[in-house]
Amino acid sequence: MRDFPTKSNLSDSEFQAVISIAQDLWGMHIARDKRSLVNSRMSRLMSGSKFTTPGELLGSLDSSDGSKVMQGLFDALSTNHTEFFREAEHYDLLKKDVLDTKASKGDKKLRIWSAGCSNGCEPHTLRLFLWENLAQSASWDVRILATDLCRSVLQEASRGVYEPRQLEKVDAGCRKKYFHQVQGTPNYQVDPMLKEGLTIAKLNLMDPWKMKGPFDAIFCRNVMIYMDADTREKLVRRFTDLLGVGGMLFIGTSERVQGEHPKLGSVGPSAYTRIS
Ligand SMILES: C[S@@+](CC[C@H](N)C(=O)[O-])C[C@H]1O[C@@H](n2cnc3c(N)ncnc32)[C@H](O)[C@@H]1O
Repeated sequence: MRDFPTKSNLSDSEFQAVISIAQDLWGMHIARDKRSLVNSRMSRLMSGSKFTTPGELLGSLDSSDGSKVMQGLFDALSTNHTEFFREAEHYDLLKKDVLDTKASKGDKKLRIWSAGCSNGCEPHTLRLFLWENLAQSASWDVRILATDLCRSVLQEASRGVYEPRQLEKVDAGCRKKYFHQVQGTPNYQVDPMLKEGLTIAKLNLMDPWKMKGPFDAIFCRNVMIYMDADTREKLVRRFTDLLGVGGMLFIGTSERVQGEHPKLGSVGPSAYTRIS
């Protein structure tokens, strides 16, 4: 993320207020040593806005504009780094432990959730992977739900236009098949095939969920690293409840499920399966 000159200079109590909002509303844990990062992100949020001090911005959260400002604050504080085929080993596990198992039973219904999908690289990778790896892929009933709370990345996910650096791990054949270069730019637009069965929606993972499941796989990768242990444990339990038996939970490769989760078994690096 680009650093902006810190015109915000949060006071102790303002920094504490931001920490509490992030924790209470979004489950986001901001460590005390992240003050200059928060300062810089709030400066960026304030530049071009009507607010001249962080106090004014925070004070407006209770006004009629409050929800808009709150959304801007989340967008400014969240980290959205992603790319196509990030942590690609998980897609091979998905094939071995979910797709092949379902195919062998003649079960062609597939439900996947990308929770914390950022700008859509992850769900679009999933769709591409399914087209390439399901036998008679058009005959499968595929639904992928992609959710995030950050408004700006959800807009990008819906647009489906990506810079070449995000496509570095897509091989030349798939790039040709599933992407079209946007005229006059170096960027690529996803083919409508990658949007088939894909629903993109705004969802705060801390809120109640309307989805009932069961999902065959849930990808929540590199999202819970910004949360404290208690929040992570609760989320993992909620994800487990939405998985069918044999369904898989994938978290980021630098993350591990901790605590007691008797319904989950580990099947690989940061990959878990619901066992009962
Ligand atoms: C680093 S990105 C990970 C994207 C993708 N899963 C991947 O691994 O490439 C983390 C995403 O989690 C989202 N996120 C963080 N807290 C959230 C919450 N409480 N509800 C919904 N999304 C959240 C952020 O907006 C961000 O887009």
